[in-house]
Amino acid sequence: MSEHGHGHGHGHQHGHGHQHGHGQGHGHGDNADQAEVLDLDAELLADHTAGIIDWLPTANPRHIVDLGAGTGAGTFALLTRFPEAHVTAVDSSVEHLQRLRTQAGERGLADRVHTVVADLDSDWPDLGTPDLIWASASLHHMADPGHALAQLHKTLAPGGLLAVVELAGMPQFLPEHGPDGHDERMPHRGADWGPMLTGAGFTVEGDRTITVHVERSEAVERYARIVLRRQLDPEVLEDALRRDDLALRTERSVWAARR
Ligand SMILES: C[S@@+](CC[C@H](N)C(=O)[O-])C[C@H]1O[C@@H](n2cnc3c(N)ncnc32)[C@H](O)[C@@H]1O
Repeated sequence: MSEHGHGHGHGHQHGHGHQHGHGQGHGHGDNADQAEVLDLDAELLADHTAGIIDWLPTANPRHIVDLGAGTGAGTFALLTRFPEAHVTAVDSSVEHLQRLRTQAGERGLADRVHTVVADLDSDWPDLGTPDLIWASASLHHMADPGHALAQLHKTLAPGGLLAVVELAGMPQFLPEHGPDGHDERMPHRGADWGPMLTGAGFTVEGDRTITVHVERSEAVERYARIVLRRQLDPEVLEDALRRDDLALRTERSVWAARR
C-alpha cells in the first residue's frame, strides 16, 4: 500500500523536527529546546502517532526497540498500544533518556522500559533481538544511515518489522512560509527511505505520507515560538504568534520494512 495518508483528516504533525540534533554543531541550549519540542510533539501528535502504530503490519510484538527515542514520544505510544511489550529506548542523549525514565516512573511503566545510552554512529550496543524496531525522526541524524540500516537488519528477529518514521522537513507555522528547504546538515531528512531499506535487505511492505495540520492552541504557540524565534525579529515574532492562522503544518512519512 502506498500513500493513503491523510488519515485523520487533519491533525497533527510530527516533529521532531528540528535540526538540532546531536553533534551537528549548531547552536547551544539546543538540547533543552529539543527536549521541549519533543515533548510538544508527543502531545500534539499523539493521535497521529497512534494512527501510524495501528497501521503497522505487526500483531503482538514483545520486545520493541525505540531507536533515537528522545524523551519517549514513541516509547509511550508503543507501550500503550502493545500492553504486553517492553521497550528498549536507545539514544545518545543522557538527558533525554533521564526525562523518559522519569515519565515512565510517573506513568507506572518503569518496569516495561529499559534505556540504553549509545552513540549509534559508533559501536552498536547489544539491543537483544527485538521483533519491532521503531525509528522516528532519528535515522536522518545518523552520519551513515546505510550502516545503521545494516545494523538494524542484523538486530531484528527474523520476520521482525522496522518502522521508519520521518518528517519531510521542519514544521511550518505560517501559511506564507513555503515548504521547508533542504538542510545540508541533514542530507537524509526528507529522503525516500524505500530504496535504502531494500538495499539493506528489507522488504518494504508499505509506506504512507500524511499531511499534518494542527490548528493553533497554546501548545502550538509554544512550539512556534521555539522555532520562529530563530527566524524572525522579536517584534515580528510577537505579531506572528498572535495570528489566527498560526498552525503546525508538516508532512510525516512512514515505511514498514520486514526482515
Ligand atoms: C528528532 S529526535 C526524535 C526523538 C523521538 N524518536 C521522537 O520521534 O520524538 C532525534 C533523536 O535522535 C537522537 N540521536 C541523534 N543522533 C544520534 C546518534 N548518533 N546516536 C543515538 N541517538 C542519536 C537525538 O538525541 C534525539 O533524541
